[in-house]
Amino acid sequence: MANCTKAEREQIAKFNNFYQLSTHDVLRRIEKYTCGCCYGGNSWTTEKQAILMGQKLGLSPRSSLIDIGAGAGWPGLYLSSISGCSLTLVDLPETGLKLAANRSIQDKISERVTTIIADAAELPFEDQSFDALSHSDLLCCLFSKEKVLIECRRIIREQGKMVFSVIYITPGLDKIDYERAVLNSPNFIQTDGEYETMLRECGWHIDDQIDLSKEYQETCRLQIEADDLHQQELIKLLGEKQALDRMSNWKSKLEVIKEGLVKRDLFVCSPNTL
Ligand SMILES: C[S@@+](CC[C@H](N)C(=O)[O-])C[C@H]1O[C@@H](n2cnc3c(N)ncnc32)[C@H](O)[C@@H]1O
Repeated sequence: MANCTKAEREQIAKFNNFYQLSTHDVLRRIEKYTCGCCYGGNSWTTEKQAILMGQKLGLSPRSSLIDIGAGAGWPGLYLSSISGCSLTLVDLPETGLKLAANRSIQDKISERVTTIIADAAELPFEDQSFDALSHSDLLCCLFSKEKVLIECRRIIREQGKMVFSVIYITPGLDKIDYERAVLNSPNFIQTDGEYETMLRECGWHIDDQIDLSKEYQETCRLQIEADDLHQQELIKLLGEKQALDRMSNWKSKLEVIKEGLVKRDLFVCSPNTL
């Protein structure tokens, strides 16, 4: 946290509030409708995509997985439940990790789950500590993307894999479209260059890159539908202004996705020899 900018710290506080609220029944029903899961998820990762992530990582009971920017444990806990792998969850807000630890007890997997409060840009692990590494829409939620990718590279074993989703601005937009994309996206969506270049420069080989933009659009559409269905309960929980702002934000977001101004990809990467 010490190296986070003021804007990043403000965002972490918002995530903390989100996780505090996330156990409310109405939010869990909306999450189930939208992403097919029920963990207090805060990325756009659906259950189908989580399964794909697990397959790409080749998880088994012998694997050690680290999920960075783990929130309340989605999708890390789910991946550990279906594969039997050991799991380390890392994030900055304590609330999400506490929920994740409780959920691991409830799911009877707590003996193989560890939660750690740490900055993704300064991971408190030895070199080559993990077989598998995941993050879901983390890089568009922080400033120092290269630092995080270098830390990920340091802690992955030689035969390990990293799988992650990220939302980014479609290259080549004019100024007006670029600004609309920024306005309707995660706070730190802007990058100095493309992820392909960044990954190579940080010691990663891209094994596969899957365009999830159509699914992102569909998930966003379902989010709007779910919020509409539960509008009265949302107003009761969040207050009228916050609930209506939330719904209007989803609609603006859907517009820029539909127009192709933002994209969401899944990257599957192996460490390059340094
Ligand atoms: C889009 S959310 C995803 C949360 C969860 N994995 C999910 O899919 O629901 C991104 C997460 O990254 C975390 N995060 C942001 N900056 C971070 C940093 N510097 N170090 C560790 N986690 C960070 C946030 O707190 C947030 O929980």
